[in-house]
Amino acid sequence: MTEPNEGMQAPVVTLDGPAGSGKSTTAKEVARRLGFRHLDSGGLYRALTLALLEAGTPRDEWASLTEEGMRALPVRVSRDGTEFSIEVGGRPVQAELRTPEVTAHVAFLASLPASRACLLRLQRTAGEQGRLVADGRDMGSVVFPDADVKVYLVADLSERARRRLVEGGVSEPSEDDVARESGVIAERDRHDSERELSPLRKPADAHLLDTTRLDFEEQVATIVSLVEALGAG
Ligand code: C5P
Repeated sequence: MTEPNEGMQAPVVTLDGPAGSGKSTTAKEVARRLGFRHLDSGGLYRALTLALLEAGTPRDEWASLTEEGMRALPVRVSRDGTEFSIEVGGRPVQAELRTPEVTAHVAFLASLPASRACLLRLQRTAGEQGRLVADGRDMGSVVFPDADVKVYLVADLSERARRRLVEGGVSEPSEDDVARESGVIAERDRHDSERELSPLRKPADAHLLDTTRLDFEEQVATIVSLVEALGAG
């Protein structure tokens, strides 16, 4: 029989949502406040993409890679305090994972069964001991279906585009900038929502959080209080 509080000492919290909804920065801060670890699953898909681009593997050959082929790519993930640090080709990567080139190819890579199978095991291993905040597209629906708290973050497209531009260093984006970035984001969302495997969906048991008019502190505080309500924060 399942006790109501079983697992609550080591909760898993998932944050899913479309591009630019603020998942990663929010997840990172929620994890910091709770003393949990943070897993940015988008970073893992980006690392595989970067490794393939660096290897010069033509994109039309990516779909024929097997799970073992993906696993053989020079991508290493290790615990680094409360974060996971990612290495590609033997060097730590961060900003390189977010270049427009990687961003342009990652949704295709993420639609391939071999890449999802390769990362599923790694992500579940990261969650084994609980006390984890994982963000991505399928954290609550596929990777951690039994997560203790699931949140689905949304925000208006133009607001998400504006945030992405500001994060990228454009301090006051023009309307044209926002319109262009909205197009890029909408295309990636379409790809992520329409793919066959692990499409972007709100899990039925996830809390919907619209961040369009919330500031960062409000977003973080809302999620932290959902976790604290479990009696485990
Ligand atoms: O979150 P981020 O924008 O870094 O994710 C990059 C891409 O990785 C997404 O557009 C999506 O194609 C893929 N992804 C995914 N499943 C996840 C996380 C990311 O398919 N759990």
